[in-house]
Amino acid sequence: MSRAPTSRLDKLLANLGYGSRREIQALARAGAIVLDGAPLAAAEARIPVTRDLPARLTVDGAPLDPPPGLALMLHKPTGVTCSHKEAGPLVYSLLPERWRRRDPPLSTVGRLDKETSGLLLLTDDGALLHRIISPKAKVSKRYRVELARPLGGDEGTVFASGTLMLEGEDKPLLPVEFVAEGPQRASVTLTEGRYHQVRRMFAAMGNHVTALHRDRIGGLDLPADLAPGAYRILGEAELAQVFGEAAAP
Ligand code: URA
Repeated sequence: MSRAPTSRLDKLLANLGYGSRREIQALARAGAIVLDGAPLAAAEARIPVTRDLPARLTVDGAPLDPPPGLALMLHKPTGVTCSHKEAGPLVYSLLPERWRRRDPPLSTVGRLDKETSGLLLLTDDGALLHRIISPKAKVSKRYRVELARPLGGDEGTVFASGTLMLEGEDKPLLPVEFVAEGPQRASVTLTEGRYHQVRRMFAAMGNHVTALHRDRIGGLDLPADLAPGAYRILGEAELAQVFGEAAAP
């Protein structure tokens, strides 16, 4: 039987952003940390770090934040940046303030441009992040595109060819699936993630992307009830969908 990893209470809470170890020791002494209904006064106590810990442990009466191994989906609105350091509003400002002090930190799984909206995954699990973005995993991403000019008609053939070379690059793009959805609308599904790839693909066709939205990663769809700016913790089943097929409609 595999045993849950254990952690010192003060270290666990400090790494979740609740304060310094000294501050957590003070919280514990004050009876503000309660495990299974009983105050935990000894901040140096080792506790098993299980998935269900937030249901068992409260801090100041509120459930503990999710322990490390956290994965989220966020409906990224336009106007926020996928970066820890750039100026201007960052995607992290859409999450609880304390989560910005987590160690290991939450990072976005790849990036969406500031003016792109849609499904964005975040995790503090480096191995999971690499498993999703690794070219070997070939996790597909679907984007819905609005264009400044009508489609030319040859986009499907060119994108599927595996020969399209983007400006400034020396390796052609892997084939991209293209579906026309209206005179100036389309969806594309790709397995690579080159810089500004979708915008540059349409620029190579003499067009211009006016709106870009990602609505699927692997088999995981952006839920219709997840409003722009809102996020949700991913469960095992949803994570499996990232690596698998779309759920049946
Ligand atoms: N392609 C782009 O051009 N922008 C994105 O944000 C994602 C893919």
